[in-house]
Amino acid sequence: MEFPASSKLAPKSLRPVFRFTPETNWMNDPNGLIYYKGKYHIFFQYNPEGDQWGNMSWGHATSTDLINWQHLPVAIPYSATHGIFSGSAVVDYFNTSGFGSLENPAMVAIYTDHNHDGTHQAQSLAYSVDEGLTWTKYENNPVLDLAMKDFRDPKVSWNTTNEAWVMSVVKPQEFSVCFYQSHDLKSWTLLSEFSNINGTDGVWECPDLFPLAVDGDPTNIKWVLFISVNPGGVTGGSGTHYFIGDWDGKEFTADDRTTRWLDYGRDNYAGVTWSDAPNGRRVYLGWMNNWEYAKEISANPYRGSMTTPRELSLITIDNKVTLIQKPIKEIASIPGALQKFTVIPTSTKSGLHFSDKEQRTIEVGYDPSAKVIYLDRTPMCSDGLAGDIQSAPFDCKNKPFEIEVVLDNGSIEIFVAGGAISISSLLASSPSHLSATTF
Ligand code: FRU
Repeated sequence: MEFPASSKLAPKSLRPVFRFTPETNWMNDPNGLIYYKGKYHIFFQYNPEGDQWGNMSWGHATSTDLINWQHLPVAIPYSATHGIFSGSAVVDYFNTSGFGSLENPAMVAIYTDHNHDGTHQAQSLAYSVDEGLTWTKYENNPVLDLAMKDFRDPKVSWNTTNEAWVMSVVKPQEFSVCFYQSHDLKSWTLLSEFSNINGTDGVWECPDLFPLAVDGDPTNIKWVLFISVNPGGVTGGSGTHYFIGDWDGKEFTADDRTTRWLDYGRDNYAGVTWSDAPNGRRVYLGWMNNWEYAKEISANPYRGSMTTPRELSLITIDNKVTLIQKPIKEIASIPGALQKFTVIPTSTKSGLHFSDKEQRTIEVGYDPSAKVIYLDRTPMCSDGLAGDIQSAPFDCKNKPFEIEVVLDNGSIEIFVAGGAISISSLLASSPSHLSATTF
């Protein structure tokens, strides 16, 4: 497939310093997030030939600190008939698949094979015995095929309840996540389906089911199910919602059907978590973009970036188990990347102004009458971004509260209520020039 190069060029100063970008070309979802032999691997939806979506392949990079990335050759390229859509990767330590050995386990990618003509999606495998550098597509692909037009984004991990591989995969148009089990990654049996027909407007994409200890107590485990929706996100366009519940080896039972949004900003989509991260760490990464305008924003020579990685936990607040996101501790080593402010509420709006050297000012504020925390990025939206106000329900109960802000070129990420609320947003500005004042 041929796609025209972008006509718009973003200033080079907009390229993020520590958020991941490909060296060149189009990128969307993070794929195959896996930690192996001291390295965090990121694979990602990638067009090797242009800066528009198409020719979907898996790009690849590795990092020891989630900040500095080594760019590697395309891992799994598209073929004449199929694109390589989103999916996940595992390290097959027990050689259940037979693709590697106990001495040198295979890294196995489980991805969606997408017919270029858009008529068919099914789940397929590829494996690597050299730490993800070169890949072989499995000869008997696909391994899970329901003969459906839309059936995608398998997230596979070793499930300790099942003592087997468990896959979460979506039927996007049916607002449904299917759970499958396998002992060899090659043959899959259906365990159950979780749907929420009246929950959201958009199609469901990129699920992730994972356990977290509540309040750090390893005997109190809850399961979190992430599902991205597009459109129908809480602030317009693409967004990610999640459920908290239990996993019994067969079914996911949500504690309730409340729609919880992972992020109230415009730009955090298709995010999933790393498997096998050290010390039980659960690290999340999202595509910092929105399908509403992803194809419009300027490129130079890359188009698309990831959020700052976040460490996830569950904490009980007011008797409610609450998902907490914290920017990874590694960014503390980058001067100015993470800034903390205390906001003292008044009877009117209060908060922070960030101004760049072109005298454009965005506002991060608390509105006591609406009880929201909001970001108005309108003045920094010249790059094809939609100008808008992004807000999250938040009641500070008239007490001073802390806002954590992560600034990188082209973005702001805001964390309040100890990380229970986040607002992630692209900006057509380089925050190295941004200075903050309170109001
Ligand atoms: C999400 C998504 C996935 C799909 C991929 C294609 O952004 O639409 O559902 O696998 O992008 O690039």
